[in-house]
Amino acid sequence: MRHLLTGILLCVAALTCITAHAAFAILPAPQHLTRGQGAFELHRGARIAAPADARIQWIADFLRDSIEAQTGVKLRVVASPARGRITLRIDPTIHGNEGYRLDVTPKEVTISAADARGLFWGVQTFRQLLPLQHEVPPTIPAMHIEDAPRYAWRGVMLDVSRHFYPVDFIKKQIDLMSYYKFDVFHWHLTDDQGWRIQIKHYPKLTQVGAWRSEADGSRNGGFYTQDQIRDVVAYARKRNVMVVPEIEMPGHASAALAAYPGLSCSGKPITVPTTWGVFHDVDCVGNDATFTFLQNVLDEVIALFPSPYLHIGGDEVPEGVWADCASCQQLARTHDLNGEQGLHGYFVRRIQTYLAGKGKTMVGWDEILEGQLAPQAVVEVWRGPDEANKALANGNRIIIASPFYLDTPIDQMTLQDLYRTDPFDNPLFAKYPGKVLGGEAPLWSERATPLNGDARLYPRLFAVAEHLWSASAPDWHDFLLRARAQEAWLGTQHVAFGPEDKDIVDARVSFNPTYKRWRIRAARGFDDLRLHYTMDGSEPTAASPSFEDVLDLYAPATLKVAPFRGNVQYQAGETFRMVPNLALGDSVIFAAPPAGRYSADLTDGILGAQYHDGAWAGWQGADMDATIDLGRPTELHAIDARFLQNAQAWILLPRSVSFEASNDGKAWTMLQTTPLTVDPNDMHPSVRDVACDLQTPVTARYLRVVAMRYGQQINGIDTWIFSDEIIAK
Ligand code: ACM
Ligand code: ZN
Repeated sequence: MRHLLTGILLCVAALTCITAHAAFAILPAPQHLTRGQGAFELHRGARIAAPADARIQWIADFLRDSIEAQTGVKLRVVASPARGRITLRIDPTIHGNEGYRLDVTPKEVTISAADARGLFWGVQTFRQLLPLQHEVPPTIPAMHIEDAPRYAWRGVMLDVSRHFYPVDFIKKQIDLMSYYKFDVFHWHLTDDQGWRIQIKHYPKLTQVGAWRSEADGSRNGGFYTQDQIRDVVAYARKRNVMVVPEIEMPGHASAALAAYPGLSCSGKPITVPTTWGVFHDVDCVGNDATFTFLQNVLDEVIALFPSPYLHIGGDEVPEGVWADCASCQQLARTHDLNGEQGLHGYFVRRIQTYLAGKGKTMVGWDEILEGQLAPQAVVEVWRGPDEANKALANGNRIIIASPFYLDTPIDQMTLQDLYRTDPFDNPLFAKYPGKVLGGEAPLWSERATPLNGDARLYPRLFAVAEHLWSASAPDWHDFLLRARAQEAWLGTQHVAFGPEDKDIVDARVSFNPTYKRWRIRAARGFDDLRLHYTMDGSEPTAASPSFEDVLDLYAPATLKVAPFRGNVQYQAGETFRMVPNLALGDSVIFAAPPAGRYSADLTDGILGAQYHDGAWAGWQGADMDATIDLGRPTELHAIDARFLQNAQAWILLPRSVSFEASNDGKAWTMLQTTPLTVDPNDMHPSVRDVACDLQTPVTARYLRVVAMRYGQQINGIDTWIFSDEIIAK
């Protein structure tokens, strides 16, 4: 491989060269590749010969269909021994069930493997060799490849709970995974914010648990029927991808407990949460009904997934809840369990035993190690190498996930960062042969959606694929060329892949007081990205008006902006709200200045939505006392002051807001004092518009708004007041 790529490296400067040589851009890199003389030409009607085995015939059909889709050339599949120009053959001398050999000569193509699994990977490699541009006839350079994976478990995890992903999206990801020789799709089907798998015995899991009511009143959710799950599992299986379901327990179970509250320690009704984090309500270990419920659920899950593995989550359990539960404490005494950790261990062992009785190997996040875990379990390591070491010392097999979290923003974990981080380069692993199954890249979906999911997965999954499959020494430049060569193909698959090292788009609005002009400025991750926008609240389409770097507005508007490349949308529209304000651009004097990071202008006409969107001024441990100089006496009909509550970020609404007016900035007239009801436990972020409507208009040059903090501290931390705008009307 290395010497072949030298030719490519010589012409790095000429981008066209990369596509020209894409024939060698196999990703993940094969173990051995040598170039032959000449090239194989694909001609219409040529035959693909394959043994008359159902699985292998399916692979041959898949190859035929792929060749037609990629090149337009129609071939025919025939069963051996009829001689084809492309031959799939079983060769028991090839090592391992995933290994394969691929020979391309001017006369013929032969893909050999000891097993259908290996044959299929050989076919996937062959597809990567097909020309990206339509050629007549399409040619494939002669070469010889011997290949096999570094690790058997090459996984991608998708969290479909925080955001729901339709079946089409899942199938597209399985196609991509398989194309890059991933072989495990870890389907994170349940979590606090949504239960996504139909369970016939417990209909409320999806009637109630699959839906949440967002702060704006909208209903968010969805679930997969058992028929859809069977369809996805069969689809994946044909593509060498095993689907491993994850049913989270005993924590991250709020959606299930919203449906069946009797299963938590308190038994109190809860709603499906709309915020992220670790939630207080978990399965009650001391209640036998918990196990009856989970076993019934697992029975239905087991029937749907042929995978020998079943993932039970087990992470982030706030075990303290069990300390306050009489039945949990009784169970601990009966079984002489050591505190809450002992209860967690008991829970995990009991589920593991149940699964083992059904022939399933339990997989769990590394917290399952905490209480005498049996060595048959597989531990998915997410908290770092110490947990890997602990699991290996305990006799468990492991899957490494920790450095591959694709929810990490791209600027904090670039393609190159990921490529250069090889968690398997760990001397300890050599001491435990066969115990490191491989790795997995999780995509948690708090901020990932069906629209922006592709860009979180690609191109970074290329680096993960390479770590898991290829054993060759890392060579960033070689890898980068091969990764970039995938882009044309991803484009044909309508994959909205992201940039290698920066955000797709970072759009911000600012206000110029001299010209009373708002400017939306966008840093774009791709030069050919365009920002389409609407001003009527609708979602932009590729047909909406667009801009590249800058859009200037001289009148207030509500703007929705979404990035596109061609017709492919990259993320949901982002909203910028600019409002009329008689105080627009006027100077504001504060009794105490706002905090440096949160010091937006309160008279810029720009409204905010989230505390970190740049639209807010914030005071921690102080009240807000703002005086606006309107420049000249102005007739006022109303004054609005806007405040944020985001209790998770210690931002609370003020307990009262007073409005005053003055003509000289010295003698003040109190217009109104508004007391507010504040619920410091309301975790939903929300914005409150506090209005001072004047029955008779007031003429004044100065305005003063004082907002008093609700209280001093929450859990020892000073609370904040946040305001984005004071609007004079
Ligand atoms: C995890 O990230 N909580 C496994
Ligand atoms: Zn309990």
